[in-house]
Amino acid sequence: MSRIASEKYRSKVMSADDAARFIKNGMNVGVSGFTGSGYPKAVPQALAKQIKEAHDKGEEFMIGVFTGASTSPELDGALADVDGIKLRMPYQSDPDMRKKINDGVSYYVDAHLSHSGPQVWAGHYGKMDVAVIEVSQIKEDGKVIPSSSVGNNISWMRAADKIILEVNAWQSEGLEGMHDIWYGVALPPNRQAIPILKAGDRIGQTWYDIPFEKVVAVVETDDHDRNSPFKPLDEDSKKIAGYYLDFLVNEVKHGRLPENLLPLQSGVGNIANAVLSGLLNSDFENLTSYTEVIQDGMVDLIDAGKLVAASATAFSLSPEYATKMNDNAAEYAKTIILRQQDISNHPEPIRRLGVLACNGLIEADIYGNVNSTHIMGTKMQNGIGGSGDFTRNAYISAFVTPSTAKGGAISAIVPMVSHHDHTEHDVHVIVTEQGLADLRGLAPRQRVKKIIDNCAHPDYREQLWDYYNRAEASVKSHHTPHILRECHDFHIRFLETGTMKA
Ligand code: COA
Repeated sequence: MSRIASEKYRSKVMSADDAARFIKNGMNVGVSGFTGSGYPKAVPQALAKQIKEAHDKGEEFMIGVFTGASTSPELDGALADVDGIKLRMPYQSDPDMRKKINDGVSYYVDAHLSHSGPQVWAGHYGKMDVAVIEVSQIKEDGKVIPSSSVGNNISWMRAADKIILEVNAWQSEGLEGMHDIWYGVALPPNRQAIPILKAGDRIGQTWYDIPFEKVVAVVETDDHDRNSPFKPLDEDSKKIAGYYLDFLVNEVKHGRLPENLLPLQSGVGNIANAVLSGLLNSDFENLTSYTEVIQDGMVDLIDAGKLVAASATAFSLSPEYATKMNDNAAEYAKTIILRQQDISNHPEPIRRLGVLACNGLIEADIYGNVNSTHIMGTKMQNGIGGSGDFTRNAYISAFVTPSTAKGGAISAIVPMVSHHDHTEHDVHVIVTEQGLADLRGLAPRQRVKKIIDNCAHPDYREQLWDYYNRAEASVKSHHTPHILRECHDFHIRFLETGTMKA
């Protein structure tokens, strides 16, 4: 049965090929999609085909692609593969997209996720021409029900001249009621307080109000989200999760956190999922989360009755858990709220609620600065995503990582990070499989001992101490001792010899 009950929307139904023809060379296109959920499944692939045909004829055809966050091979992958993306914003994690960024084919603006929508809306990137948005159904009265992510959809539809909707019958009808769409977002000087006082507060409505006059095409699809399975938990991930959970237990014991903690934010990836698994086997009850994505581990916590409210902007589920969600979405909607990303990641509720942030990193330095985005200072990996939104504003900001990469050839702890995403001012806790460094209340030189001795791999501790001791002996200022000419020797050694080991 069609998911489009509204007659007027039915009159706009057409093929993905015809819909894609509204998109022309040089346009800015805002698409739905966040961590592989809720992205349009048909129009981007039809568009990629048209771009390729144009290139084969020697015609120019590149566009600006604006999303919620990462999408999928059918969107980022397909458009990057045909050299169709001139500018990409914000977070991505597709291997083909990453290659085009690092090869200089595509420009990439790695904006904070909470800023990305309002910045486009404010015109920082020029005009938004077309929005291509996946939804799960259109009701008879014209109410449009979102799908498995909300992301930047409201900003894109607000800013765009034309709107193309993909109505995906694979998405559960039970999603209706899960979303919280707040049209109170405005640009300065018209901003108002966001009335979220608890993670589970609902402040808006469960559907999109779409200006019908902008809708130029509706495309029907029936295809699953890109769901990648999580790797089985390895010993290191379990150790990292264990240290972080012991830290939380200790905070409660000393009265610095309430017994049910504060709302949890959990970054992307396997270690974050390991932390959630650890919580499942802990004594914590009545937990809440105010985060970006709902992962498998959160679904387990909900099933176990331990997580009583979960606020996010999208799902990031394995295929098994996506099926479970689709089968039981109406039940999960009692606990899960999907909001637009300029609310899920907004500094105001994050700071007010006192979120406990936990994110991955690429490298940290001996003073606590963190690089989340760049390999060896120059190559983009994924992007800052929401890690800046949460880290800067959380009550406690933790970072979790293995102490080495590339089979031990790289130390995740270095003298000076090769790119700064999160400064020492915002990083409170670093955890590796070696241990945990609680940096709160410590001056830079006091942090060094904690980070090297607790977090660095034993193979690199001596080298790191050698650098620090010589830096301290050689400089006039003892606040943050560095030998500038040597501070990237670890990176240079890896680039020249394939290992950071001396
Ligand atoms: N130096 C060089 N390369 C490194 C490295 C280092 N210090 N640390 C990791 N890498 C490489 C890995 O070898 C791997 O390379 P490969 O893909 O060629 O195998 C790649 O970087 C990814 O590393 P991995 O350990 O698989 O990363 P992850 O899945 O745990 O993710 C981040 C770590 C930092 C990339 C990820 O957390 C991220 O993108 N963070 C930024 C966004 C964010 O935090 N979002 C959540 C906010 S809500």
